[in-house]
Amino acid sequence: MTSTPKLDLLHAAVEAAARYIESDHHAPVSPTADALAGLQAFSQVSVDAPITPAAAIELLDRVGSPATIRQNSGRYFGFVNGGVTPVALAASVLSGAWDQNVALPVMSPAASAIDAAAAEMIVDVLNLPAESIASFCGGATIANITGIVAGRDNLLAQAGWDVHAKGLAGSPPLQVIVSEEAHVSVTKTLRVAGIGSDSVTVVPADSYGRMRADALPEITGPALVILQAGNVNTGHSDPFRDIIESLDSATTWVHVDGAFGLWANAVPERRQHVDGVELADSWATDGHKWLNAPYDCGVVVCRHPKALQHSMGMSAAYVETGDERNLMSLGLQMSQAARAVPVWAILASEGRAGVAASIEQSCNAAERFGEKLSEAGVELLAPVVINQVLVAFGDDATTDAVIAAVQDSAVCWVGGTTFKGRRAMRISVSDFATTADDVDASVAAILEAVRV
Ligand SMILES: Cc1ncc(COP(=O)(O)O)c(C=O)c1O
Repeated sequence: MTSTPKLDLLHAAVEAAARYIESDHHAPVSPTADALAGLQAFSQVSVDAPITPAAAIELLDRVGSPATIRQNSGRYFGFVNGGVTPVALAASVLSGAWDQNVALPVMSPAASAIDAAAAEMIVDVLNLPAESIASFCGGATIANITGIVAGRDNLLAQAGWDVHAKGLAGSPPLQVIVSEEAHVSVTKTLRVAGIGSDSVTVVPADSYGRMRADALPEITGPALVILQAGNVNTGHSDPFRDIIESLDSATTWVHVDGAFGLWANAVPERRQHVDGVELADSWATDGHKWLNAPYDCGVVVCRHPKALQHSMGMSAAYVETGDERNLMSLGLQMSQAARAVPVWAILASEGRAGVAASIEQSCNAAERFGEKLSEAGVELLAPVVINQVLVAFGDDATTDAVIAAVQDSAVCWVGGTTFKGRRAMRISVSDFATTADDVDASVAAILEAVRV
């Protein structure tokens, strides 16, 4: 074993992290070819010839840092990937040192208390029903699985079927309704939940990707209805109020995939775009997207705490559980990181108004993108309502060529997608660091790519 003192290593890592953060605004958003070629250094280290801990940290910084995607630069607009706020980064460094497991309060009184406080703040800041319970997990995919399984179990229990005892084979029929524009993670979720695609009704969406309320099928029994806050391409949301108010709440469970779009409900100026979202039974969202918490952090919120606990509950002879909040019984994982620590730090220091202002700043930046690009003659495929900007540059080949040229420029990073059969450039403003100057420089890079 090596004798490198813990503190030296920690200082080296923190200093490297500080240098990295300091260089964020000057470095290209995506790595150079040389930086990428350097990555082979990691696989050249063999377990039969280990290096010192100090050398490992040095290699991570020297070779790893320049090859990263600069997600915190304010100019990364790919995949709805958020940045990390300074307080969240600092809190996660401290939390890393704590190395707490929050499966049970007895394992970490501190992190459990922080988790409970952060969960309450999330429900509050998202303007969801006060009786709801929130729990942190690895991302919106896991949060979708958690909420949908809770809904499935609850509906079947109401129909007299105990899934835990009997499984799904032979269970009463459950209508499952999704939009044709549901995110791929919902498709996977349903598969994991034992709901095959043949038993799912897919409802058509309108030209902005919103489920068409007028195309809902007749609901004849227990039904699981899955809606979306924030289409991954357009940012538009399903018409929650129209749909949910038309359903019989006694026999339906509405789950909302709001991986990023649910955060619009935290902002008075944007709330109309998710009107009625609070009428659902469960919600999935992410901390690592639009709240700018570090990876990985998803959140499931459920209006029916007992139903969630029933679905996710687990107990063992060596585990004493009382009425306290047991995270291993509020989600899929047993051992788990204290993901709520950076979330608490953001919410505690930004407050309701600060979070709303940051989200609104992203929306304003997205609108600025939309205005500047359309003024230059670029086609907007949907009005900008929150943080997503979807544009096309004529035919598919030209659009793909422009996207590739922008990515090569490394001034900013934008992704490609296919929406309603057309290739499109998707600009997702999900990093609170994005300024009007970042938008203007990125618009200039996009227009330059169009000219080439
Ligand atoms: C609408 C929507 N749902 C679910 C997800 C999956 O989220 P995660 O990657 O955090 O699991 C995403 C990711 O982009 C998304 O945009």
